[in-house]
Amino acid sequence: MSNILRKLSYGVYAVLAMDGERPTGCIVNTVFQISSQPALIAISMNKDNYTYEVLKNTGRFSVSILSEDTRREVITDLGFRSGRDTNKLTDVDYYMLDGLPVLREECSGVFTCDIRSMTDAGTHFVILAEVKESANGSEVAPMTYKYYHEVIKGGAPKNAPTYVPEEVVAAEERYVCDVCGYVYEGDVTKEPEDFRCPMCGVLKSYFKKK
Ligand SMILES: Cc1cc2nc3c(=O)[nH]c(=O)nc-3n(C[C@H](O)[C@H](O)[C@H](O)COP(=O)(O)O)c2cc1C
Repeated sequence: MSNILRKLSYGVYAVLAMDGERPTGCIVNTVFQISSQPALIAISMNKDNYTYEVLKNTGRFSVSILSEDTRREVITDLGFRSGRDTNKLTDVDYYMLDGLPVLREECSGVFTCDIRSMTDAGTHFVILAEVKESANGSEVAPMTYKYYHEVIKGGAPKNAPTYVPEEVVAAEERYVCDVCGYVYEGDVTKEPEDFRCPMCGVLKSYFKKK
């Protein structure tokens, strides 16, 4: 079952919102268009994400479409930390559109949304929203989930809908960074002592064998 679902295609996006005066948000791979007139989209948001609470309280969010040129640190900062205890946009370049933060960071485009409904789906909410304002960005190809996995070699954290528990992942030699989810194919212990995670920069001692 899980292996079949891993063949579905996605993109990589930042969902941002205002938490009072503070911009916050997270990475999602689940943004899909529902209709064009009106322009409706849906996202899948984990109930444990702080972003879920902000969306529920404010009823608004923005979507930034990451491109292949977007820095991987943007994904580390927004997708592997929580806005509950961090100001996630401190080192991330953003601007305000329609009262909401949107990313620069070589994104392919950005748009803002008003929430129409939130449907409880167990671990996640399916959030239906109407697109309000938009702006184009970089001409570089939008980042696909396949590109994120195969080129950036990123993983999916526990709250992502596509997360696959360790026990169902095939047993191959690989190490995963405990901080950002970067997947090292092979034996990371054979790297020099000063080897650092290409995604978040921690030392190899942070890698766990999977
Ligand atoms: C590539 C990637 C895809 C993700 N997709 C989703 C998603 O579709 N829905 C979701 O709820 N979380 C998703 N996540 C997980 C959240 O980004 C992550 O749990 C984040 O730390 C939540 O931050 P917050 O607590 O500030 O909201 C994804 C993370 C990554 C790195």
